[in-house]
Amino acid sequence: MSDRSVETLLHELVRDIPDWPEPGVTFRDITPLLADAEALQAVVDALTELGRSLAGGPIDRVLGIEARGFILAAPVALALGAGFVPVRKAGKLPGPTYAVSYALEYGEATLEMHRDALAPGDRALVIDDVLATGGTVAATARLVGECGATHVGTAVLLELEALHGRDRLAGMPVGALRRL
Ligand code: PRP
Repeated sequence: MSDRSVETLLHELVRDIPDWPEPGVTFRDITPLLADAEALQAVVDALTELGRSLAGGPIDRVLGIEARGFILAAPVALALGAGFVPVRKAGKLPGPTYAVSYALEYGEATLEMHRDALAPGDRALVIDDVLATGGTVAATARLVGECGATHVGTAVLLELEALHGRDRLAGMPVGALRRL
C-alpha cells in the first residue's frame, strides 16, 4: 500500500504529452504510473472499490476498452472474482461480434465485442483509463445492451471535465479517481 494518496499518485505519475498524437491534443500518458508497482496496486485497488460501489451489487464481467483499459480491467476483474471481456477496435476479434460506431471530432470510430461475451442478465462493469468526450463509454454501454446485459457502472482513472463526457452518459453510473 502506498503512503501517497491515489489522487497524488495520479497527479505525479500521469504525464501530459503536448501536441500528441496531433497538434492541439494533450495526451495523458499513464506509463509512469504503470511502471510504479505501488502506484499500480493502489489504482487497481481504488478502481475495484469504485467499481464495486458504482455497481451496488454483483458484477459478473469486467470490460476493458482497448488498449489501455485492458491493462487496468484485468486485475480489477481478478480482484472482483469476475471474468474479463475485451472491447476492441474494429476488425480485431475473431468471432461473431456486435459493433457500435460513433462520431469523433473528425471522422468515426467503431468498437466491437464478441456476441457471446455477455449473457442476457449479466452485470457488466466497464474500466478505462480516461473519460474524455464520453463517446467510447457510450458505445461500450450500447454493446452491453446488445447482449441483453446490464451496464452497472464505468470506473476510470481520469475524467477530463472540460470535454463534458458525463453529459453524453446521462443516467449512467460513472466514476473517476481524479477529475481534471
Ligand atoms: C482513449 C482513452 C479512452 C478514450 C476516451 O483511447 O483510452 O478509451 O480515448 O475518449 P472519449 O471519452 O472521447 O471517447 P484511445 O482511442 O486513444 O485508445 P488507446 O488506449 O488504444 O490509446
